[in-house]
Amino acid sequence: MNLEEIKQCAPGEIKACKDAKALEAIRVKYLGRKGELTAALRTLKDLSQPKRRSVGQRANKLKNELELLLEGRLREFARESSQYKETIDITAPGKRVRLGHLHPLTKIGREAKQIFSSMGFAVMDGPEIETEYYNFDALNIPPNHPARDLWDTFWLRQNETKNQRPKTKNTERLLLRTHTSPVQIRYMETHEPPFQIIVPGRVFRYEATDASHEINFYQIEGLMVSKTVSLANFKYVVESFFKQLFNRAVNIRLRPSYFPFVEPGIEVDVSCTRCSGWGCSICKQTGWLEVMGAGMVHPHVFEAAHYNPRDWQGFAFGMGLDRIAMLKYNIPDIRLFYSGDLRFIRQF
Ligand code: DAH
Repeated sequence: MNLEEIKQCAPGEIKACKDAKALEAIRVKYLGRKGELTAALRTLKDLSQPKRRSVGQRANKLKNELELLLEGRLREFARESSQYKETIDITAPGKRVRLGHLHPLTKIGREAKQIFSSMGFAVMDGPEIETEYYNFDALNIPPNHPARDLWDTFWLRQNETKNQRPKTKNTERLLLRTHTSPVQIRYMETHEPPFQIIVPGRVFRYEATDASHEINFYQIEGLMVSKTVSLANFKYVVESFFKQLFNRAVNIRLRPSYFPFVEPGIEVDVSCTRCSGWGCSICKQTGWLEVMGAGMVHPHVFEAAHYNPRDWQGFAFGMGLDRIAMLKYNIPDIRLFYSGDLRFIRQF
């Protein structure tokens, strides 16, 4: 066969092949060691120089074309056979779709807000970056109080160059708030009693972490002020709150304690949610769990907010949301909340 004849016949034959084996036979027929095209190429040496060149080019071009055609046909076979395999197995189980969901701290925060709202408390918030004045001074925490130590509080660096003291007045120095209590002052500065509010929010402490301490965590602050609000009202409110939150009967115990912004100051315990007061590992055999600090608002705090302490009285409280969530869900380590470990998060 000469080149022209090969060009006429080969493409049709390749197209007509029904499987890879037939295709291989065609390849051998034209491009194999003893194939037609190979033979044609071999005759080149008998031609004159100029002719050899043009025939050689045509022959090589034809060889490339045929190789492409062969490859293309082979790919068609592969596609046909894989289509055949890709039928749908209607008995195979479906793929499970995983829905995202709320973080346990978000959940408990929402529940707490909902319970306090149902008792008529308004939900407020305040800045996480706070001034020294609101975080400490206005709350009757004196300048030499250990809480102001470098080791308890994250101070923000401002206007400071190397050998220079900060230019700002001391009370305007900024810090990451160590509790939600400063919002008491901020709220009272702009509102008149009577009122009752809660303030959920994120707080920060500069301290070593362990199973019950984190450098950031969540609190809920509470404040109720009128002419007659008393600790008896407080006791009723917290008892109702914990009953609803833990979904069971609880007892409340108030112990004397000290916080600069209340007088008297108290520590609140609830009967253990696991053993109901019999004693277990969660309550360290005492039957009681410490859940919050509280007290009657100190006259100095009212004065800082420009209220006359002779006109008004009220209770305030602050609790750690993380700790409440740990009790409710039986979580042994506060750091789990912030670990980002999905194996933990997915359990709630
Ligand atoms: N701010 C306190 C703390 O972070 C908690 C607290 C105690 C808040 C007594 C109060 C209170 O409002 O009356 O430890």
